[in-house]
Amino acid sequence: MATYSRLPGSVALITLQNPPVNALSAAVRQGIVDTVQRALKDPKVTSVVICGQNGKFCGGADIREFAGPMLGPPLVPMIHAIEAVDKPVAAAIEGVALGGGLELALGCHYRIAHSKALLGLPEVTLGLLPGAGGSQRLPRLIGLTAALDLITTGRQHDSSFFSSLHLLCVCSQSISSVCVSGQSLDSRRLSTLPCPCPPDVDSLLDKTMVKVRQRSRGALAPVACVQALMAAASLPYTQGMEKERDLLTTLFNSGQARALQYAFFSQRVVGKWSLPSGASWDNSAARTISKAAVIGLGTMGRGIVVALALTGISVVAVETQEKQLAEASQVVPAMLQREAGRRSLATPPGVISFSSNLQDVCEVELVIEAVFEDMSLKLQVFRHLTSVCRPGTLLCSNTSGLDIDRLAAVTQSPGLVVGMHFFAPAHVMKLLEVVYGPRSSPEAVATAMQLGKRMGKVSVAVGNCPGFVGNRMLKPYLEQANFLLEEGATPQQVDEVLEEFGFPMGVFRMSDLSGLDVGWRIRKEAGLTGPGVESTRTRQGRRYSPLPDQVCEAGRLGQKTGRGWYQYDGPGGRVARSDHWVNIFLEAYRAEHGLVARSIAPEEILERCLYALINEGFNILQDAMAAGPEDIDAIYVFGYGWPRHHGGPMFHAGQVGLGRILERLQHHHHNHPDVPHLKPSTLLRRLVAVGSPPVQKWREFINKERVHS
Ligand code: 3HC
Ligand code: NAI
Repeated sequence: MATYSRLPGSVALITLQNPPVNALSAAVRQGIVDTVQRALKDPKVTSVVICGQNGKFCGGADIREFAGPMLGPPLVPMIHAIEAVDKPVAAAIEGVALGGGLELALGCHYRIAHSKALLGLPEVTLGLLPGAGGSQRLPRLIGLTAALDLITTGRQHDSSFFSSLHLLCVCSQSISSVCVSGQSLDSRRLSTLPCPCPPDVDSLLDKTMVKVRQRSRGALAPVACVQALMAAASLPYTQGMEKERDLLTTLFNSGQARALQYAFFSQRVVGKWSLPSGASWDNSAARTISKAAVIGLGTMGRGIVVALALTGISVVAVETQEKQLAEASQVVPAMLQREAGRRSLATPPGVISFSSNLQDVCEVELVIEAVFEDMSLKLQVFRHLTSVCRPGTLLCSNTSGLDIDRLAAVTQSPGLVVGMHFFAPAHVMKLLEVVYGPRSSPEAVATAMQLGKRMGKVSVAVGNCPGFVGNRMLKPYLEQANFLLEEGATPQQVDEVLEEFGFPMGVFRMSDLSGLDVGWRIRKEAGLTGPGVESTRTRQGRRYSPLPDQVCEAGRLGQKTGRGWYQYDGPGGRVARSDHWVNIFLEAYRAEHGLVARSIAPEEILERCLYALINEGFNILQDAMAAGPEDIDAIYVFGYGWPRHHGGPMFHAGQVGLGRILERLQHHHHNHPDVPHLKPSTLLRRLVAVGSPPVQKWREFINKERVHS
């Protein structure tokens, strides 16, 4: 709703009230319409100020209402009516003015903001465009070039940025005194102004369209944003608004908008974690960490040190190899400075000390181990840690998939051991899997989750199983990609299909980037390859492809060696080019194993890679290793490059149709009975049997089934 009050004198104050962000729900819109009418009718009122309750102007349209029928007064005519009134109306912006919130402010005659307020039009991130006049009014105010950047990226900035674009009349530490009466309003109505465009407007629009198409990989909204701004540049306001409405209608009804809105809410759902034990975010206290240690300063350890230091935590960074320690003590401060600069921090808040002595961690409150992925080494480190650290210190491992409980078992306080699985580069990637073992205490999980949040990560609590959630699902995906090569595909063909779907990189380009030796080492540990293991295509009772092992044996470890599934300009090269060697190698391999290459359709490539991954997601839900589909989807969107406009693997399964996924898995499993990952999960079958409920209902269904079983 919106409340009305008369300030001493002649100013009417309208306050938006819809906690927590004063989103423009039907009740708020009705409240605005009513209170503006009241201000107009009151002869003592000469000017109007609109603000938001609790120091927040407005977070935009109420996204929760998008799923239902449109109720209450629509936004566009409401904002038009405000712009048209003959008493001056000012938006007094504190906290946030986002999306429809900023569009409401653009309909006012004046905008005044607190210096710390955050403004922007993030609709594109929800699969929409600013559809309440924002795509037409903003460029008229700040010019086409700046509007294109803001609207196609959804970027948010503080008031000083917008002051320099003349979007704000006043930007100050205090917005308590606002007086806007007495001036003519003619030039204050943005819809009546021309749109300032650069001389080369067509070229600007063309270039932006090309850039947006490249960056958005199949996403509809950024393209529609450019089209709306083309209309702003070339058409009168009324026709521009018609174009905005048509584009919005198309986007609004698209699966992509639903997927992106689901992704917005899943990011928030995962913060409200719960464990099978009943422990959850609202009944478990977290400790506040101010001193931490990182053990092992390789690829991951370095990034973790930077992420902690940026949060204001003092870090003891320990490395036993002299050369690595010397290199890290040069590289890490530089990484920290760079990242602090990128985040506009004057000085990095945390202090880092480097050491080769594990004894130096004795004063810290939390340790993150990031040594090689080798269980016996990690056990040794954990034994050592538990003897040198103060009682009560949290001991965490960055393992990519080893058993957290085995590590806990060698410590004095197994309840204080959890996994904190970061993703490379750890100071940049948004995802953190917090792995709880059967003995991890709620306090340890709560502390790791909160620490992740402080570091700006999307933290997801996951159960302790090989590979946890993300890597467990990646395994069948990689496996299918290798099988497809055996059957006749090339790495480029597979990658193109996956990139067309929206992944920033196909599976083979991604493997080259991460380093092919990572998986090779894991397979050796698992006894799947290495000296003495016979080179067959069936290992440990299931189909196995020795292809990636053989590529590593040829010294091709990916970008780092300048060769992998592709060739690069040299070691460390970034541009992947197809390599004739790989084609010859694949032909020889097929000949050796009596395989006849066949032409494989893009649909088969996509189905086998994605549906095998999705199927494992259902197994994970069934095993209670993830609390709900939102957790899996957040992991894939924030950690594995799953295209956000497809929501996440589990959401995508729902959009494709669970019946269809089941039928295709059955088909592929029939053709490949020696691939257990293609055997449809029991949970998938059960969901189909009860009529394929929407993804939002799965958590409830799974919990009910669990209670009954
Ligand atoms: N509608 C409905 N609920 C919203 C909302 C919105 N626009 N914005 C936030 N919320 C909810 C969140 O879901 C969360 O709910 P929960 O407590 O039940 O989980 C709660 O408000 C608090 O949100 P955050 O946890 O994100 O709080 P923060 O303080 O970290 O961030 C924010 C606040 C910056 C406003 C952030 O929530 C945000 O970015 N919101 C979305 C803003 C947006 O995209 N607006 C555009 C909407 S589309 C539009 O306006 C269309 C128009 O052009 C026609
Ligand atoms: P890395 O090989 O780059 O670095 C490991 C470092 O640990 C080396 O510098 C080594 O000298 C040091 N080390 C070994 N024993 C030590 C000891 N006893 N005390 C102190 N330092 C010791 O390895 P990377 O890639 O950083 O991986 C570390 C951990 O992170 C592994 O468990 C890995 O599975 C996991 N991980 C790796 C990811 C990646 O993309 N590289 C992603 C996510 C997790």
